[in-house]
Amino acid sequence: MTKNDDIKACRDAGVAEYCDLLAARNAPGAKAYVRTYGCQQNESDSEKIRGMLAAAGYSVTEDAGDADVLVYNTCAIREHAENRVFGNIGEIKHLRERRKDLIVVLCGCMTQREQTAERVRRQYPFVNIILGTFVLPRLPEYIWRCLNGEKHITDLSGSGGTNEGLPVLRESRIKAWLPVMYGCDNFCSYCVVPYVRGRERSRAPGTVEAEARRLVEDGYKEITLLGQNVNSYGKGTGEGVNFAGLLRMVDGIDGDFIIRFMTSHPKDATDELIETVASGKHIAPQLHLPVQSGSDRILAAMNRRYTAEKYLSLVSRARERIPGLTLTTDVIVGFPGETEEDFLDTLALVREAEYDSMFAFCYSPRPGTPAAEMDGQVPHEVKTERFARLMSLQEEIAQRRNLNLVGRKMRVLLDGVSSRAGRLTGRTPGNLLIEVEAPESMVGTFADIIVDSARAWQLTGALEERSCRAGT
Ligand code: SAH
Ligand code: SF4
Ligand code: F3S
Repeated sequence: MTKNDDIKACRDAGVAEYCDLLAARNAPGAKAYVRTYGCQQNESDSEKIRGMLAAAGYSVTEDAGDADVLVYNTCAIREHAENRVFGNIGEIKHLRERRKDLIVVLCGCMTQREQTAERVRRQYPFVNIILGTFVLPRLPEYIWRCLNGEKHITDLSGSGGTNEGLPVLRESRIKAWLPVMYGCDNFCSYCVVPYVRGRERSRAPGTVEAEARRLVEDGYKEITLLGQNVNSYGKGTGEGVNFAGLLRMVDGIDGDFIIRFMTSHPKDATDELIETVASGKHIAPQLHLPVQSGSDRILAAMNRRYTAEKYLSLVSRARERIPGLTLTTDVIVGFPGETEEDFLDTLALVREAEYDSMFAFCYSPRPGTPAAEMDGQVPHEVKTERFARLMSLQEEIAQRRNLNLVGRKMRVLLDGVSSRAGRLTGRTPGNLLIEVEAPESMVGTFADIIVDSARAWQLTGALEERSCRAGT
């Protein structure tokens, strides 16, 4: 797909027309504020929201108090995420009172639920536009309509689409999110995503490859292929390219860049995928394989469709084939019915899998999901106590694994400036955070780094040339 195709797709969706109308009407200096909650998928959507707003003549501000349009791109994965959104929109009430012409937009996973949209309409009447996840391209039209006198618009319609051709304003000049598929068909019993993001749909492989090529040409150094379950990529495209095939296509692009991907559902992670990662030229030696629990009973109740044994055999195949593999995971503690014994199974699995890092969550009942109705809801104190035990085990493992990296040479992408003077932050090939003494001019480049110290959450290192000099 060329840039011209993008503009055409954008015109077909009516996006460009409304952006042009808004750009002609907006006073110079009109500003928009976009706040994102939730996962990389939402971050990526927010880059499209910013792209549309920029095309509509708004410049992006980090200060909500300074903006003419406020967009809250929400997440519904846990109750805590929703409460943060409600807290934050509550706080803007006073802005609304000061500025009658302010336009407030709520979009993303939370608003796709009719009950939540209804609550917003009732409790926060100053929200002008409530947009579901399937109608993102209509944002410029709805802003236009509000500027022309409409007070409230709610649109939760649609059930698919892959938002082709929308303009994108990326947060970073170094790292890019590249969605390859949307939605999820897995219906894990605790999870709201299939309800708010709809059925799985994949983007055409050629479109993904062309977009990746353009990113590399534009100087991006890291491309992360995104999907709720990238391993089931390809269904419905009619092109016979599975995720391993797509990875190989992107890996075939010439240039100096690294490819990451997330998330891989363990039930669909194939040996072909492992081989593709192992033999890739640009593909990071990294797998994020959310396990959720180490108890077969709980895994079955979660509808994960693998056992602890199957999972661990996948891990050992991956470790065998991918040298220096970085393995990360997600775990939920306190799923309904989880006993101390089930939890001990999780600790045992975590000990065996030896993760480099982990995202752990206390189970949060999501209205409308099967698990929310299950017997045996676990008390809050039990969840937090298990959470603390799990995190302390993980910290011990990560500390040990990271110490093993001291003295090793790694090719690190330097991606930002550290809060400590004279230092940059970077990511190892496995995506571990590392801090390096290096000049700011090196941000956005790969550098050979010797790891010189390690804590559980972070490594530090020195540029190879400097540590060699120091050692001679
Ligand atoms: N599609 C990805 C992850 C999506 S959500 C996957 O399947 O791996 C990210 C993580 O949030 C999940 O892996 C899970 O650990 C956690 N999560 C999802 N629903 C949750 C809930 N109701 N309570 C607590 N954690 C949850
Ligand atoms: Fe949710 Fe499961 Fe789908 Fe991940 S695979 S998004 S946890 S339903
Ligand atoms: Fe949240 Fe939606 Fe992502 S629920 S985790 S923003 S897909």
